[in-house]
Amino acid sequence: MEKKEVILTGDRPTGKLHIGHYVGSLRGRVELQNSMDYENMFVFIADAQALTDNFNNPDKVRQNILEVALDYLSVGLDPKRVTIFIQSLIPELTELTFYYMNLVSVARLKRNPTVKSEIEMRGFSDESQEEANFGTGIPAGFFTYPISQAADITAFKATIVPVGEDQKPMLEQTNEIVRSFNRIYGPVLIEPNILLPKNSVCRRLPGTDGKAKMSKSLGNCIYLSESNEDTHKKVMSMYTDPLHININDPGHIEGNTVFTYLDAFCKQEHFSLYLPEYENLEALKEHYKKGGLGDVKIKKFLEKILLEELEPIRNRRKEFEKDIPYVCQVLKEGTEKARAVAAQTLSEVRHAMKIDYFEDEDFIAEQIKKFSQQ
Ligand code: TRP
Repeated sequence: MEKKEVILTGDRPTGKLHIGHYVGSLRGRVELQNSMDYENMFVFIADAQALTDNFNNPDKVRQNILEVALDYLSVGLDPKRVTIFIQSLIPELTELTFYYMNLVSVARLKRNPTVKSEIEMRGFSDESQEEANFGTGIPAGFFTYPISQAADITAFKATIVPVGEDQKPMLEQTNEIVRSFNRIYGPVLIEPNILLPKNSVCRRLPGTDGKAKMSKSLGNCIYLSESNEDTHKKVMSMYTDPLHININDPGHIEGNTVFTYLDAFCKQEHFSLYLPEYENLEALKEHYKKGGLGDVKIKKFLEKILLEELEPIRNRRKEFEKDIPYVCQVLKEGTEKARAVAAQTLSEVRHAMKIDYFEDEDFIAEQIKKFSQQ
């Protein structure tokens, strides 16, 4: 029988999703949903993981559950084809995490580059009230979240995990856990493969201010759910090339956020539609580099391209916002379906780990024999 793929990915509900999430992952998920013949696709809201560094702000997580669910539905994830669920409502994930903890050393956790850089960021985050400051020490829950992420992935026997580049260390740790588990207890778990966006600019889209990453606290995000007017303002004030002062000055493409976004969003047909005097993106870049092409013109072009993609998403969102009970129903049904899958894996895990005492008739017979011989 042909092996079919299981796709799984999730997002922390710490804010509305932005175009960095969109090009880095959401757009690709919708493409997979529509083009691939898979066995199952799971997309989930990682609220328990969000709490590991927002434990002091439960309302933030609570308020973003439906925001993220609405973002999912409005980009085109279809609940008939994708199981959408909430992480914390599946207690099997927590139980798996506890067993996997035995398979990971503290030293290994300390080396995880994503956790390391997150800890560094938090250490200095006095000015950011949004996230918990780890000044008083690193919470064990945060420190071990890569193990819980391994539980998220393996509970569903995921084979493909579409995520951003920053999640690579999590996938590596998951694979190590899978290998240890299968070696010690028997072949139950499946090693997943990471799926990164093909276009490398999409793996980490910079903020509108040119800073490395879009982040809510820096105020440099374009949200999927904001108004077209807000997007207009943000595009018009985007960081370009500080040396390109007069229109005739030669311009730089490298580090120029407008061109980075064009690399992520622009398709060939956009030229005949919106900027027919240029043949393609290369020609536009050449003109900019030579001098004589103004920032306003490229920003207007970018705005048209962004709105072409974002407007249908925003319109769909407005429709879903009118029917919140439906969105809740999607989450409830998805969670129920996902829970059954996780429960099946957990029962295999418990059997392999020899802790399924009363499900195993041999256990009782064996114990009767053992004690009768004493
Ligand atoms: N760590 C991911 C993020 O910060 C969210 C996440 C949690 C996840 N569990 C996952 C992603 C499992 C993929 C698979 O965005």
